[in-house]
Amino acid sequence: MRRLKASVLHLMATFAALVYFCSEVHGLEITPHDKEFVLAQGSSLNLTCSGSLDALWEFKRDDSQRLLDEQDENGNPRYIIFRSDPKSIALFLKSVSWKDTGVYQCIDHNSSETREVAVFVPDPEVWFVKSDHGMVTKISEESIVPCVATNPNITVTLYERDTNRPIKGQYLPGEGYKAQLEDITYVCQGELNGKLKKSQEFNVVSITVPENIEPYISTSKTVLKQGEPLTINCTVHGVELAIFSWHIPITAAVEAHPQTYESTKSMHSCLIFPRTTVGYSGNYVCHVKETVEGLSAFSSVSITVLG
Ligand SMILES: *[C@@H]1O[C@H](CO)[C@@H](O)[C@H](O)[C@H]1NC(C)=O
Ligand SMILES: *[C@@H]1O[C@H](CO)[C@@H](O)[C@H](O)[C@H]1NC(C)=O
Ligand SMILES: *[C@@H]1O[C@H](CO)[C@@H](O)[C@H](O)[C@H]1NC(C)=O
Ligand SMILES: *[C@@H]1O[C@H](CO)[C@@H](O)[C@H](O)[C@H]1NC(C)=O
Repeated sequence: MRRLKASVLHLMATFAALVYFCSEVHGLEITPHDKEFVLAQGSSLNLTCSGSLDALWEFKRDDSQRLLDEQDENGNPRYIIFRSDPKSIALFLKSVSWKDTGVYQCIDHNSSETREVAVFVPDPEVWFVKSDHGMVTKISEESIVPCVATNPNITVTLYERDTNRPIKGQYLPGEGYKAQLEDITYVCQGELNGKLKKSQEFNVVSITVPENIEPYISTSKTVLKQGEPLTINCTVHGVELAIFSWHIPITAAVEAHPQTYESTKSMHSCLIFPRTTVGYSGNYVCHVKETVEGLSAFSSVSITVLG
């Protein structure tokens, strides 16, 4: 027993060494090496991420993930991304403004390795990066209010707009204020050299995102006589946004007008046939696609209509 334990320990040590060795070999690296850049308006920055064939640059913010695809007023890309060699990908930020403030990530989706740098472009007029919609979608316990200070010296606090109550949480430079939020309106406040400025308002909207979905079907009857009515309900719990589609016998399909409705934390699709015929016999399959995470599932029931 003891010997076994010892050899397991030995194996683990070897394994740890190997993991360390591998990450040394494949590690992503961003150059220049600074974790944070404070840039003057109109200046430029060239960041290179090397160490992988699969690495990509992404912008780390829920409300503007597509920032790196954006174009300037003249229709030119705002960001230039190019492979300088097969294992290096460069991101060129040209003529920066407050809009470029944020966290830039180099991600290898294959190995899930990530490196990031924060960029700040202080603007005496614009203390907080403006958000187009001021909406925060809440899908977990903690969310981030994207009041991103353009100057890292600004101290940020978060308040409930209606009560002015300060909210406990953590300000993440370049990302926003992370806290447990409710479905109400919040506002951030910045403080710099004794001066105060408020951010725009942010509305929090909760969205339930299930880990999996399990539709189930209930019917008035599964065996019925010709002429009897038939009701088939497909229900999925814990979902607020979903699309239903049905696969049903052709005779029934002609008459079908599925009604979708929601109740507290569930969605339903209902088929009502006032009069059945033998042709209604067969399999009724309800497909559900949840639209936030894209989960999908189905459930089915077999119906027999006797002649
Ligand atoms: C940015 O860095 C890449 C990789 O080192 C280099 O090939 C490229 O010329 C640089 N571009 C500018 C504008 O500095
Ligand atoms: C991920 O990396 C492995 C090993 O380098 C490679 O064989 C595989 O093709 C890569 N997969 C993708 C999706 O790039
Ligand atoms: C932030 O504060 C430090 C120390 O007061 C100062 O040296 C620096 O210039 C300030 N940075 C900006 C961007 O205002
Ligand atoms: C199906 O849903 C409708 C509408 O809510 C309801 O009236 C009916 O009783 C349900 N039928 C079954 C079999 O669950």
